[in-house]
Amino acid sequence: MDDPTIATYDRIAVEFARRNFDLTNGRYLDAFARAVTGNAPAERFRILDAGCGPGRDSKWFRERGFQVIGVDLSAGMLAEARRRVPEVEFRQADLRHLDFPDGHFDGVWCCASLLHLPRHDVPAVLASFRRLLDHGYLFIAVKAGQGEEIEERTYGPGSPRHFTYFTRHELELYVERAGFEVRELWEGEPTPTARHGWLNLLAQTALRQPLLGAVAVVFDDKGRVLLSERADGRGWNLPAGFVDALEGPDETVVRETREETGLDVEVERLVGIYTRPYRYKGTDWRLITHAFLCRATGGALAPTKEALQHGWFSPDGLPSPMSSRHHVAILNDAVQGRCGQLTLPVMRRIERGR
Ligand SMILES: C[S@@+](CC[C@H](N)C(=O)[O-])C[C@H]1O[C@@H](n2cnc3c(N)ncnc32)[C@H](O)[C@@H]1O
Repeated sequence: MDDPTIATYDRIAVEFARRNFDLTNGRYLDAFARAVTGNAPAERFRILDAGCGPGRDSKWFRERGFQVIGVDLSAGMLAEARRRVPEVEFRQADLRHLDFPDGHFDGVWCCASLLHLPRHDVPAVLASFRRLLDHGYLFIAVKAGQGEEIEERTYGPGSPRHFTYFTRHELELYVERAGFEVRELWEGEPTPTARHGWLNLLAQTALRQPLLGAVAVVFDDKGRVLLSERADGRGWNLPAGFVDALEGPDETVVRETREETGLDVEVERLVGIYTRPYRYKGTDWRLITHAFLCRATGGALAPTKEALQHGWFSPDGLPSPMSSRHHVAILNDAVQGRCGQLTLPVMRRIERGR
């Protein structure tokens, strides 16, 4: 094993277990277990004990009925865990390369192990914990402080372990950036023999909602559709935008059409709801778009900061390039709706392409 920290744990596993197996972590385990289960039976919930060491906390979860899997990189620690807690499944794995399916767990318990990773690995490991939980809870215990160091005091010379220390603020930021909301943070003061206190954090997966958008399909009295050439160079599109926090999508199309084109419109009817994958600010989302057939009521077309120019186009002669396949599908449905071939609003899922 190349990692000196893991080599140390392999060597000190028996002594570590002797010193730590009977310590009690009850207050935090209770709070975590309560959060995970609500009032439901523990048997329904799967816990990952991430960096489980000799399995003390895995045992606690198992005794209370949880399904639990312990992972650790140290073969020595796993041998102790298997001997002491044979009823639990333990796997050898690096926290940096966990290969469980997405959403496999309801809780990730990470006690005194994240602190052994180099700081630059921490965001990716927390992001992988987030992927392993659809909706669930994360517990982390790390040592409070600043910087990183190789420590050889606790188990003596020749027993180096890498430690990364965290301030309270740093830990909260890492966890929030990985897609969690902090629920509790208990700070333990350093004891006379320990230089570092502990930060014990309970977090819940933050709700990730899809993006909401709205699109206006506006025809003139010759049956031509209003399109705008985007100022960002991505081609032509229907007036469209994201729904604001205090808006309904029917209000969004009116606002967006005015902002983008200068035209005032009113909504005539819903054409349909369209969903598609969408990349926004470096993250994958699903975009849910409400498309409305709208009628112009006033205003005048003018270039804006979002659009270089506007035009009325026959649906058979669209300008090129169109910015998205999605808008072409919406336009086709609106054309069919206009000539009575489509009477109800449609619901379309678009899987690939722009
Ligand atoms: C201080 S012990 C804590 C063990 C246990 N969670 C407890 O609270 O008693 C740290 C554990 O993290 C494990 N560990 C360190 N780096 C790891 C990594 N990259 N992947 C998996 N486990 C790791 C070590 O092998 C060790 O068992």
